[in-house]
Amino acid sequence: MLKCCRQVFLPHLRLLSTQTPSPNLQASTIEIGNHVFQKDDWSNVTPKILSYIKSEKHLQKHHPLSIIRKRIVEYFYNTYKNNRGTPLFSVYDQVSPVVSVHQNFDNLLIPAGHPSRAKSDCYYINKHYLLRAHTTAHQIEMIKSGLDNYIIVGEVYRRDEIDSTHYPVFHQLDAVRLIGKEKLFGNFLDLEIFENDFKSNPQKIQTIISNSKCIDQSKQPCHTLEAVKLTEHELKSVLVGLTQHLFGDNIEYRWVDTCFPFTQPSWELEIYHKGDWMEVLGCGIMRNEILLNSGVSNSIGFAFGLGLERLAMILFDIPDIRLFWSNDSGFLTQFNEEDNRPNKYKAISTFPQCSNDLSFWLPEGVEIDNFSPNDFYDIARGIGGDMIEQITLVDKFKHPKTGKSSLCFRIVYRHMEKTLTQAEVNETHGKIAKVVSESFNVVIR
Ligand code: DAH
Repeated sequence: MLKCCRQVFLPHLRLLSTQTPSPNLQASTIEIGNHVFQKDDWSNVTPKILSYIKSEKHLQKHHPLSIIRKRIVEYFYNTYKNNRGTPLFSVYDQVSPVVSVHQNFDNLLIPAGHPSRAKSDCYYINKHYLLRAHTTAHQIEMIKSGLDNYIIVGEVYRRDEIDSTHYPVFHQLDAVRLIGKEKLFGNFLDLEIFENDFKSNPQKIQTIISNSKCIDQSKQPCHTLEAVKLTEHELKSVLVGLTQHLFGDNIEYRWVDTCFPFTQPSWELEIYHKGDWMEVLGCGIMRNEILLNSGVSNSIGFAFGLGLERLAMILFDIPDIRLFWSNDSGFLTQFNEEDNRPNKYKAISTFPQCSNDLSFWLPEGVEIDNFSPNDFYDIARGIGGDMIEQITLVDKFKHPKTGKSSLCFRIVYRHMEKTLTQAEVNETHGKIAKVVSESFNVVIR
């Protein structure tokens, strides 16, 4: 978390030294998409890290990160609607991660010299640009473009330690909601968002933030207490609702005061999980300077940010953050975005997979819809048992001339305790083919 008072930046273990040097490291420019950046002594981004751009795990169908993203967005769509039933929040999930130092830090009032700016903590393209360290980096441009309620989701990049919960690229979701006077106070026309002396001279009251100290956490001097309290109440209710939507109504939670340079007051929400309190999000009342710099002078705003990996690890019981980058179908096929009740992750075998297809013609006159794949799965499992990791129906078609129908199933063999030999797999596969052809009167192709 990019905080100002509690430092959570852990010593960085030699991430770069473990990578094989690539010829590109010697080049004097870095190319990202259509842009060419001149390298300088701040450049520390590696070809390996650049290769994660556009990986879009948060948009990959049935990927646990995408499932979490969809559930959060669905919650916001349902919670905030206008009087015609249209969702108030708009969602941006393909915004480029290349941002300026201004966007990532200055715009968010993160002071010069703040530890989170260090070269040892971020992936700099050069002294002016970096790969965003948080999705909060887009606040000013989004609000300037006219948005009052938005969600942004994408991958972020941080040089960090390597262990089961840290990876140099991970995913965040940030949201902002701006609330005007009428929305906040309804019919109480005498209430105001801003203190009177602030209204007459907006420049007079500026909060000061320093590297070492947290600013006053009760409220920003420009805001009235009633505006802050109502906004805090809405923010906290919505985020507790989100947590219950994800983890169930019985989830234990607590609010912890904290500091971020871009919000005041600021909080973290923690949930009780497996005997420990775990921080799941950071949030707060947006610093009014950020709204003024975005061209908004009549609203109060709240914002929050959360990490998708952490939520997915809790929800699906995923033990290692590297699994989110796995292309192993043994991992990816465990999750389904249509399931309402989340699957718990089952450890995948570390032994290699072996995939064999089985195609057959159905008896004449039998249509594809009359054949139940579940019958096939039962027979295959009965013979292959735990040697079988997955079975999928990969193809079905009807021959235009003979009118006969054909099905093709792909069986992925993989044992939990040993490497299977091709001979073992072939023997089991042959047995399945034999029993299937006898039981369903089909002809193996
Ligand atoms: N950007 C913060 C981080 O990466 C998280 C965060 C905290 C985002 C508070 C926000 C916020 O929008 O209001 O640690």
